[in-house]
Amino acid sequence: MAHPIKRIAVIGAGVSGVSAAAHLKTAGLEVTVFERTGKAGGVWVFDARVAPEPAYPSLVPSIAETAYYEDVDSKRGVPRHTSEDVRENSENLKILHAPPGPCYELLSNNVPTGLMKTTLNSWPPGTEQIVRHNVLAEYIQDTAAKTGVEGITQYNTKVERVEKKGEYWDVRTVTLDADTLEKKTRDWEFDAVIVATGHYHAPKVPAIPGLKGWKKAWPSRIQHSKRYRSTRGFEGKSVLLIGGSTSSFDIAKELDGIAKTIYQSTRGGEFDHPISMLPPSVKRISEIKSFDLGQHSGPILDNEAILYTITLVNGQVISDIDRVIICTGYHCAFPFLSPYHRDSVPASEADKTALVTDGTQMHNLHKDIFYIPDPTLAFIGVPYHIATFSLFDFQAIAVAAVFSGKANTPSEEDMREEYLRKLGQKGSGRSFHSLRGKDAEYVDELLAWINPGIVAAGGKAAEGHTKEWKAQYELLREKFEGLIEKKPQLAPVEKNIVDIKAEVREPVEAH
Ligand SMILES: Cc1cc2nc3c(=O)[nH]c(=O)nc-3n(C[C@H](O)[C@H](O)[C@H](O)COP(=O)(O)OP(=O)(O)OC[C@H]3O[C@@H](n4cnc5c(N)ncnc54)[C@H](O)[C@@H]3O)c2cc1C
Ligand SMILES: NC(=O)c1ccc[n+]([C@@H]2O[C@H](COP(=O)([O-])OP(=O)(O)OC[C@H]3O[C@@H](n4cnc5c(N)ncnc54)[C@H](OP(=O)(O)O)[C@@H]3O)[C@@H](O)[C@H]2O)c1
Repeated sequence: MAHPIKRIAVIGAGVSGVSAAAHLKTAGLEVTVFERTGKAGGVWVFDARVAPEPAYPSLVPSIAETAYYEDVDSKRGVPRHTSEDVRENSENLKILHAPPGPCYELLSNNVPTGLMKTTLNSWPPGTEQIVRHNVLAEYIQDTAAKTGVEGITQYNTKVERVEKKGEYWDVRTVTLDADTLEKKTRDWEFDAVIVATGHYHAPKVPAIPGLKGWKKAWPSRIQHSKRYRSTRGFEGKSVLLIGGSTSSFDIAKELDGIAKTIYQSTRGGEFDHPISMLPPSVKRISEIKSFDLGQHSGPILDNEAILYTITLVNGQVISDIDRVIICTGYHCAFPFLSPYHRDSVPASEADKTALVTDGTQMHNLHKDIFYIPDPTLAFIGVPYHIATFSLFDFQAIAVAAVFSGKANTPSEEDMREEYLRKLGQKGSGRSFHSLRGKDAEYVDELLAWINPGIVAAGGKAAEGHTKEWKAQYELLREKFEGLIEKKPQLAPVEKNIVDIKAEVREPVEAH
């Protein structure tokens, strides 16, 4: 890696970006943080406004975040790659500059605060293990204030493009003045760039036959979970949730006792939450084959259910659905690094320079952090199925050690060999970054790599997770594994389909 690295850009002021900036600053480096919203906190900042609905189905990862339903499907029939000419009113301009995230009114952490803690800040005394989103946002904002990161953050400033030019990274930003709505573009030069933009911006909408037609016919009845804010409007309704992971599970719990009927459709995937975690009233059903449509796909009254049926892959048909929430997750995507995207390539065929292919994973990162062909580009926040705050903090410690010259990345050849070994073990796709049950192992490995350099430079070796942290983690792991064991061996649909109360009709031909 070219040294010395002095000026570093950090993109994003969620917990990953704030941790990265704080450790780099402590290491004496010159850091600038770019945050497109007006606040630190990322996912945990609640915004009552919602992001525009994505295209149906969502488009390729590199443009999935900015190709909106209204533009792609309703108006022009072509995807738009920029937000420049979208409906010019001030609220829309602000939303398009910094789209609101997925946080909903009652969102709370599902990993206890005792495990979600950085080495940079403590929770206020008396903080409960499970808290509302604002407590987590305040923790990140307080960390930014106490570490001085707040003062080096350019807010309302979106990174539009990151490009290597010779020895330097050229970072193009656009700052939106919230009062005048004036946009200022600026090009900056940095020695290194840290991407800490999170995973949850580009909603994934599956290409299920007929879904696009349903969205077009009844746009307000069909939505992605990113736009879910509260149970309002779902009272007494029949709701279909697509996807079997956390968003679907959390929304099902919220709607339990409020909606009339809740169906959860899954493909029986590896990461589906066990049925035992769902409220008993929720009916898990099979994967959807098609949303059926016929001649009468015109407007319906507010109190009317959608007229047509939904056919499942097991041949069952459900009807009288009022609302559909698509909880199928997000694409891994970095629109500002589009030359590193290979949209038409399957994950298993990524080349040696690709960062993203089909959006299911990131490619060519050493320890999920350093871009192997050029480690002056680094990522914090990539792994999942972890206690995010604490693990990202250790990643930030490792990046600070490397960028300050205390530790070195191995040779490109060695990094590639390690990466290929991991690929051989985990396979490509969604599970590649899952560290379920292995937080401490990953952190110990990171520290075993960077600590000798830190100590040789006269510093104090970074300590890994504390004994208390490991004990609390073990309890959580055991609890989760107990639930996984209860997961039925049969595909969930086979066990629950008999519970379906809705009228069963003959399938209608899908369009
Ligand atoms: C609904 C939900 C609930 C979750 N619950 C938990 C939980 O209980 N426990 C847990 O451990 N994890 C949970 N997670 C995971 C969560 O993502 C992490 O806790 C953590 O917030 C991720 O932080 P981050 O900084 O990596 O990303 P984010 O919090 O997403 O922050 C990224 C920041 O980058 C900014 N940004 C993006 N693009 C640009 C750009 N081009 N230019 C400038 N700025 C940009 C964004 O505005 C944002 O502020 C949850 C995630 C979701 C979606
Ligand atoms: N309270 C909380 O803390 C909370 C609440 C909400 C979300 N979150 C977090 O937010 C993040 C995102 O969660 P998420 O649930 O939105 O996304 P996710 O974890 O990526 O899950 C997506 C789900 O959709 C399914 N799916 C994908 N494509 C499908 C298709 N074509 N048909 C049917 N199912 C399909 C997936 O199953 P397959 O395996 O079959 O692909 C998976 O079950 C996670 O980190 C989660 O922990 C946390």
